Amino acid sequence: MSKTKICIIGLGYVGLPLILNISKRYECVGFDTNKKRVENLNNKIDTNKEFSFKDFKNKKINFTNNLQDIKKCNFFILCVPTPIFENKKPDLRNLNLAIELVSKILKKGDILFIESTIYPGLTFQYMNYLQKKTKLKINRDFYIGYSPERVNPGDKVNTIDNINKIVSINTNNKKILTKVSSVYKTVCKKIAFSNDITAAETAKVIENIQRDLNIALMNEFLLICRKLKINFKEVLKLAKTKWNFLNFHPGLVGGHCLPVDPYYLASIAKQNNLKTIVTLAGRKTNDFMDKFVINEIKSFLKRKKKKLKKTNILIIGLSYKAGIADLRNSINLKIYETLKKKSGIVDIYDPFINNEAKKKFNSLAKININNNYDLILFLSKNDHFKTQYKILNNKKNKLKIMDPFEYYE
Ligand SMILES: NC(=O)c1ccc[n+]([C@@H]2O[C@H](COP(=O)([O-])OP(=O)(O)OC[C@H]3O[C@@H](n4cnc5c(N)ncnc54)[C@H](O)[C@@H]3O)[C@@H](O)[C@H]2O)c1
Repeated sequence: MSKTKICIIGLGYVGLPLILNISKRYECVGFDTNKKRVENLNNKIDTNKEFSFKDFKNKKINFTNNLQDIKKCNFFILCVPTPIFENKKPDLRNLNLAIELVSKILKKGDILFIESTIYPGLTFQYMNYLQKKTKLKINRDFYIGYSPERVNPGDKVNTIDNINKIVSINTNNKKILTKVSSVYKTVCKKIAFSNDITAAETAKVIENIQRDLNIALMNEFLLICRKLKINFKEVLKLAKTKWNFLNFHPGLVGGHCLPVDPYYLASIAKQNNLKTIVTLAGRKTNDFMDKFVINEIKSFLKRKKKKLKKTNILIIGLSYKAGIADLRNSINLKIYETLKKKSGIVDIYDPFINNEAKKKFNSLAKININNNYDLILFLSKNDHFKTQYKILNNKKNKLKIMDPFEYYE
């Protein structure tokens, strides 16, 4: 059997940690269509701020956007984005393109894994496509599997090497199974192995849908409590005394997973003439929460007899989740943009976003308690911001601070 040579296609939040781990044991090539990303990675720069220069130390990885450089690889892992179109339908253009690239170089003995989030059945569709296009036969000439990604950027506890990873492939070929298992063991210690690829695809989307729905439910409870002037914090404190009350908190649901994945499952259900009822139920509420924040600001200012137009605001937390640089589908950013149009000065404080974004949004380098804002708006939850909350929540600022989701109050 030839030496395993890995190619990771798509080097973003998912692909980069993967290649940095696998390259500890295997020869790896990283392929990305974004030239700038490739150039940065070859210079050991990760603009997502997940990895620093030292994380690339002693790693001999060739990052490339040249198909010729990955021709000799025999184990491909696809980690390209799978967003949705404006009409909420799955946008598979990146993945189709990546499959097309692989089809040009696929050869006997190759193994292909998809890690991008997809809907159930898509791996099989790609498998059929590759068989037709390359004339190679599945489970004789090439092998295909699906391993959903659970990496949680910014999370220092549940890291890629200590979480369970689902690895699914439907073959009885022992050599292939050993190879797959040995590659994925360099990524994480605990593997949930399955020969049911469709089940693995479904497991991934339902994990995120469950989370999306639970947060939506908490958001709706918060809306009800505010409307009825019920003390939400007290409600939560009491409800949590029940052994099986789930520990979810309201908040802004952004990013490329929770606001996207429900549409992937709903779309394949619809294609099979099943209209989902619960799967998308959280979307509307979670997508409404920017308006909730703006309404809260308006009532806050009304009590102070202040006009939004003349209000200077400092927003704490701009990325979709505190502690990371990712601004994709950030509701915090949506709130920033609305306020920018409707109020006075709007500044931000977010030390986690990358330098380019810091410049663009004029992020303060440090919080100064004497900064003269009429309103200081906490939109994200994390320990660093909690410290800032404690600093700012002094007598002088007390009447200026808003924490609409009661993260710190
Ligand atoms: N980021 C997360 O936290 C996370 C968690 C779990 C699952 N996922 C899923 O993993 C997948 C990748 O997400 P991500 O956050 O890493 O995306 P990303 O945008 O951070 O990175 C994707 C990379 O793929 C490159 N790319 C796009 N099309 C390509 C192509 N055809 N060939 C080669 N490179 C290509 C892009 O230039 C980019 O660098 C998505 O399906 C996502 O839903 C992401």
